[in-house]
Amino acid sequence: MNIDAFKKFDLTGKTAFVTGGATGLGYYMARGLARSGAGVMIAARRETALKDAAKQLSEDSGNAVIYRKIDLSDREDIEYSVDYVIDTLGGVDIFIGNAGQEARLGVSDDQEKIMANLMQVNFAANVSLVTRFLPHMKKKQWGRIIFSSSESSLRAVSIGQSMYAASKGAINAYTRMAAAELGHDGITVNSLILGAFHTDMMQTNVVELLDQMHGPGAGEAFVKDFAGNSALGRLGRPEEVEGQVQLLASDAGSYVTGTEVIVDGGMSIMMRPNPARERIGHSDLLREE
Ligand SMILES: NC(=O)c1ccc[n+]([C@@H]2O[C@H](COP(=O)([O-])OP(=O)(O)OC[C@H]3O[C@@H](n4cnc5c(N)ncnc54)[C@H](OP(=O)(O)O)[C@@H]3O)[C@@H](O)[C@H]2O)c1
Repeated sequence: MNIDAFKKFDLTGKTAFVTGGATGLGYYMARGLARSGAGVMIAARRETALKDAAKQLSEDSGNAVIYRKIDLSDREDIEYSVDYVIDTLGGVDIFIGNAGQEARLGVSDDQEKIMANLMQVNFAANVSLVTRFLPHMKKKQWGRIIFSSSESSLRAVSIGQSMYAASKGAINAYTRMAAAELGHDGITVNSLILGAFHTDMMQTNVVELLDQMHGPGAGEAFVKDFAGNSALGRLGRPEEVEGQVQLLASDAGSYVTGTEVIVDGGMSIMMRPNPARERIGHSDLLREE
């Protein structure tokens, strides 16, 4: 194997900040960056999970991974924490805006109950962080910004997700506009259109809920069937985002910007039934918060 082929993926000397990096997809995004040599800081609300993940990531990558507790729903906490992040890392070269929340309500329900929080955590917090990280990236004339978006931002994948989808759709639009403005400074901006991965988010919001309603195993059967209707015929494994982030964050991905990179096992190319017409499944996930 030609070792030179990997040089373009080398992130030695770069710094990375990954929100939601203690669990699920964010964990493997952080692992990919650390394995490629970047100095990585992960952030989320649960301190114990962060501490454990940072330890595991450091062991897995052979590269010290650090963490910062931060609540992205709290604008004051973001403002307070961001100076620490920038000072500790000496500026952020690679920003992965991955943290996110899902909440479901029908379009006829009181959307105000979930709108502000979803828009803050899934969209506005990313904008605040990008704004603060940009001066360093511009100074270096190099930067990478990658967001975790969702298949729901492009298609009616499930029901009750209008606010979640809108928050991710805002990220897609922001990605394009930011990429157009920042390209001349050597900064790329992309969003990942993520399909169905079995993480805590899916476990809590789908599997456990359907188990409660229809008995043990119902949730697992539903997600298997749902993901079965994709080209690869299965759910995504969380570690399958790792290589994608290594590509986009490094010089190997230097000519990719402003795009929605679809990582969904070919789910989006399939015809799907209208989720609102199902009697069991998506319709059960629509519940009062
Ligand atoms: N799993 C899928 O199939 C799928 C599909 C499409 C898109 N996505 C997107 O992928 C991203 C990662 O999700 P996941 O599936 O890996 O689920 P996950 O394990 O639940 O990850 C979500 C992460 O966001 C963090 N977070 C949530 N609210 C936060 C807040 N207010 N402040 C700081 N951190 C916060 C959570 O940590 P704390 O709870 O400790 O704060 C957690 O680490 C999300 O943006 C999600 O929308 C996932």
